Amino acid sequence: MLTQPTEKDDNLVQWIRNGIAVRVFGSDVDASQSVASEIAALIRQRAAEGESCVLGLATGSTPVRVYRELIRIHREENLSMKHVVTFNLDEYFPMQPDAAQSYVRFMNEQLFDHVDIPRSSIHIPDGTIGRDGVDEYCQQYEDAINVAGGIDLQLLGIGRTGHVGFNEPGSEVDSATRLVELCDITRSDAANDFGGLDNTPELAITMGVGTILRSRRIRLLAFGQHKSAIVARSVQGEITDSVPATYLQGHDDVQFALDSAAASTLDPK
Ligand code: PGA
Repeated sequence: MLTQPTEKDDNLVQWIRNGIAVRVFGSDVDASQSVASEIAALIRQRAAEGESCVLGLATGSTPVRVYRELIRIHREENLSMKHVVTFNLDEYFPMQPDAAQSYVRFMNEQLFDHVDIPRSSIHIPDGTIGRDGVDEYCQQYEDAINVAGGIDLQLLGIGRTGHVGFNEPGSEVDSATRLVELCDITRSDAANDFGGLDNTPELAITMGVGTILRSRRIRLLAFGQHKSAIVARSVQGEITDSVPATYLQGHDDVQFALDSAAASTLDPK
């Protein structure tokens, strides 16, 4: 296990712990720009190979600056996203796509309305599916990822429960896309968006841990002091279903891009 810093400059400190490459940036903007640059380079590389680039995308406040930077690169550096295929991690259930809290709406506003990804290449779990059809729908979502060739790069945030996507504590390492119950902590973190806990959904559709782990690269972003304890448990703790992000330790190309506040509880040894 390599635990010593492997690179250090004014803005970046990085080391590897339990298989996770931890990168601590001077700011959340620096971290987001670095991840966006990597995504842009991957899109260009796949295009040069004549292949589409399959991205797994996340919602929440954390990835917003990555999307802003991708829009800038698209506009100012002529990044074509015509051959990008996307699969979002999750969606509340039930959820109408035009609702204020919908992840469809979020993704349109934050990214899709501003770049040239074909609408037919965009996949977001459908919160309007009837309850009886959810299992079949989730299997079709898995199938669509496989038909697209698997996810080249999965972007992740992390919840205070240690969830990735909406894989809450108790999620199994080989879990697939499915309907899940949200934890109380996750619901209370979302309650502001829904005008109170009583209006906050109890269910969501999420890609599984197994779905995420099949991605060829995983890039998790976490910013702010309130994420530092769960980041430290995810990187330094034993792999356990009570902190689903610890499963990422078993992946062979996973990086955590952090600001110094989110890294403040980590022990770089
Ligand atoms: P956040 O959510 O980006 O809004 O902090 C992250 C998550 O719950 O996965």
